[in-house]
Amino acid sequence: MALITFASNEYKDKTVYAVAGSHTETVLKIAKANKIPLSFDCEDGECGSCLVHVGSIDKAKRTRMGGPLTAKEIDVLRGLGKISKEEIDTMAVTDLPTEWRLACQMIPRDEDILVEY
Ligand code: FES
Repeated sequence: MALITFASNEYKDKTVYAVAGSHTETVLKIAKANKIPLSFDCEDGECGSCLVHVGSIDKAKRTRMGGPLTAKEIDVLRGLGKISKEEIDTMAVTDLPTEWRLACQMIPRDEDILVEY
């Protein structure tokens, strides 16, 4: 079980439980199920409207923060200028996802995270 805290400048923070390792529940699905007003459009990793910044709840200890980025996600984040070629290369070696993610593509793991939208 993972805790996901959704934070925004416009809305009150909300923390919800997520079943980690389901391999189907994306951050966007979890947000919708919990009535979090996170923006989205295509729900298929193509438009970039569900862009979120993801961090560890425990700032001193960076956890993995979600499953690996999909190829679509990498392309869109690249197009939005949120990840560089160097970060993509580093990710391939370290297997640590970047802090910018697409909520409709990101599958949470068993870790407590902060999702800023
Ligand atoms: S909703 Fe379009 S990329 Fe996530």
